[in-house]
Amino acid sequence: MRIDILTLFPEMFQGPFSESIIKRAQEKGAVEIHCHNIRDYSTNKHKKVDDYAFSGGAGMVMSIEPIAILIEKLKAEREYDEIIYTTPDGQTLNQSISNQLSLKGNLMILCGHYKGVDQRVRDQYITMEISIGDYVLTGGELAAAVISDSVIRLIPGVISDETSALTDSFQDNLLAPPVYTRPADYKGWKVPDILLSGDTKKVEAWKEQQAYQRTKERRPDLLK
Ligand code: 6GU
Repeated sequence: MRIDILTLFPEMFQGPFSESIIKRAQEKGAVEIHCHNIRDYSTNKHKKVDDYAFSGGAGMVMSIEPIAILIEKLKAEREYDEIIYTTPDGQTLNQSISNQLSLKGNLMILCGHYKGVDQRVRDQYITMEISIGDYVLTGGELAAAVISDSVIRLIPGVISDETSALTDSFQDNLLAPPVYTRPADYKGWKVPDILLSGDTKKVEAWKEQQAYQRTKERRPDLLK
């Protein structure tokens, strides 16, 4: 997979993409991530990338020109399966969307900022608009990092324990059951006996029951 991120703040991605599983995914060649600074494509002598809204009011709007130049350049180099725009008024990200995106080859993500982007960018280029939840961020960069992270970990071979991604919370619309590790007794706080029994069938049944109970208590909406 290849992900191209179009942003005014490429350095915001240095942290999330240079550690742990996402770092290893790139080293293994499972994903290539390219961050592009929209400002580099401004034709303005002051490298301006935004302007006042024709409709008035406070706040700037991201201009079409530098974004269009950058998108056209990338589209001329390869075909994109989706061109995603991160925006609070997009569809809310969920595991099903991440699963679908993980099957794609080339993704582009445009990070929204200020009062948003000129509507003509959305009309002409964007194929998917995604929000990461009902709260407001300062910009779309953190959302783009969240989307990328949730998608990349689903690419086959990225998570070494092949079954691990399949047993995630949400993968079957159930939350994950509680987990324990050694010591079996810490200051009298004990691990449930059944997990120490060695009876794999009973352990599996316990995990399923716990997952269901947790979901019923915490996220009954997932069971509907
Ligand atoms: Cl994608 N952008 C911004 N600015 N805020 C958000 C968001 C995106 N998703 C949730 N809140």
